[in-house]
Amino acid sequence: MRIILCGFGVVGQSLVKLFVSRSEDIYAKYGLKPRVIGVFDSKGSAVDSSGLDLEKLIEVKKKFQTVKKYANTKNNMSGIEMIESLDADILIETTASNYKDAEPGMTHITNAMKHKMHVISVNKGPLALAFPSLMELAIYNQVMFKFSGTVGGGTPILDYAKNSLKGERITSFAGILNGTTNYILTNMANGLSFDAALKDAKDKGYVEADESLDLDGLDAAAKLVILANWIMDMKVTMPDINCTGIRKVTTEDIKKATKNKCAVKLIASCNRELTVAPKEISIDDPLCVNGTLNAIAFTSEHSGTQTIIGRGAGGMETASSILRDLLDIRQEISRT
Ligand code: HSE
Repeated sequence: MRIILCGFGVVGQSLVKLFVSRSEDIYAKYGLKPRVIGVFDSKGSAVDSSGLDLEKLIEVKKKFQTVKKYANTKNNMSGIEMIESLDADILIETTASNYKDAEPGMTHITNAMKHKMHVISVNKGPLALAFPSLMELAIYNQVMFKFSGTVGGGTPILDYAKNSLKGERITSFAGILNGTTNYILTNMANGLSFDAALKDAKDKGYVEADESLDLDGLDAAAKLVILANWIMDMKVTMPDINCTGIRKVTTEDIKKATKNKCAVKLIASCNRELTVAPKEISIDDPLCVNGTLNAIAFTSEHSGTQTIIGRGAGGMETASSILRDLLDIRQEISRT
């Protein structure tokens, strides 16, 4: 399978490392031979239509902080040029999420679909702003569109709700979908002030480059949009979410919750309304996880409430979700 990889940050590099370390096993078990024929980062690109040497790619990135020096050529294709000129089967979109115009991910994804490439995205921006129209575009162009890493990272939350609960009618769900704010709120419950907890989260590298994405609830809202569209068949985008972040949570709020055997958590919920807001939940609720963990509870008509808990971020975790999507695409192609 010929792949164009958009973005070569932590997730992109983890994916390539996963391809290197698991190549024999992935081929033996699933018959999948991923060939990365083009990759670009913010400074440049590397292209080889017969497949890039992945170990060399990682070395070059480590040494020069860009893949641009992979070959001694002046040829430095942009992402769009790559999509338009390379004969690839799959586009993997890992550039940073933005919720203003979703670029450059939106252009990568829509162009790839128009060029009949299947798309895997871990970039949440395009889905948050245009989920319904991206789905239509994929159907119109008869390509597959996968995005299991956008919610829950390596924890297969979307697959669980869509496939394991097949036939069920999910009536509502609520979850902690942002690890960074959960880490901050956990530390506040352990006695730290908001500022000290935020600083610690920053020092550990958890906070997004634009801290507002975590603190103002935008990341959780984007994940809620994806869940609502994919699982509840709602046709919604970011402006439909009633969103409040954690900036106004005070030490007093936390202390009051502790007294009530509760904790304050940033909860994304779908129960008639779509809301992201800090809420008190009982410490005995399975949803009440600590640190950077994510958790989500699905309530369905006949099978009650089930809670899934797992890590919602991380390079290797997210890379493993991309591999999952790739294997799904491989399987669906071989069925047709
Ligand atoms: N900033 C996100 C989080 C990363 O803290 O959960 C994963 O989307």
